[in-house]
Amino acid sequence: MMSDLPFTFELDAPGFRPSHYDNHIRRTLSAMRGQYLDQAAYEALLAEGDAPLYEVYELNRPHVAGELLHGISIVHPGKVGEEYYMTKGHFHTVLETAEIYYCLHGQGAMVMETPEGEWAVETLVPGRVLYVPPRWAHRSVNTGDEDLITFFAYPGHAGHDYGTIEQQGFRKLLVERAGSPAIIDNPRWAR
Ligand code: F6R
Ligand code: ZN
Repeated sequence: MMSDLPFTFELDAPGFRPSHYDNHIRRTLSAMRGQYLDQAAYEALLAEGDAPLYEVYELNRPHVAGELLHGISIVHPGKVGEEYYMTKGHFHTVLETAEIYYCLHGQGAMVMETPEGEWAVETLVPGRVLYVPPRWAHRSVNTGDEDLITFFAYPGHAGHDYGTIEQQGFRKLLVERAGSPAIIDNPRWAR
């Protein structure tokens, strides 16, 4: 088998876009239909335009065990009603796969939960590493007023299960109350 060559790339401030990447994914408001608590605020915002919510820069590696898929995730600042801009969030299809995040810029949080009903919210600030253990669904939320930028890496065979979260969201939501982030119960969540 032909072996790959080692490679490097740079993540320079202030933008932290990788100097080399293979895919650039952009998600806009229309991709998040049904995910925000305040449906009226969602429709009103969408009527003004399909705003960009987050972007992912990926480096192509084979989707097999032994590889590490990695890249940069950028969640833009903003809110739908009182709920902060966030990623769709997902379980890994192979539940027993972890992920590691390193926060490079901005202010935010990772909202997480397991199929067993445990939940956790960890704050993301520049310089902080977050380990998402196997079985934990994860969603990044931007609670600040600048881009939330993270580096991520996860096993090549993990896969993404978006459907479970799309059905009723996460147990907990992150909203702004009196100018600060607050964790509230998701009324749609009923597992
Ligand atoms: C990969 C991973 C991140 C997210 C990215 C966008 O397993 O967790 O790279 O893919 O932050 O979020 P989603 O994929 O939930 O739209
Ligand atoms: Zn993931």
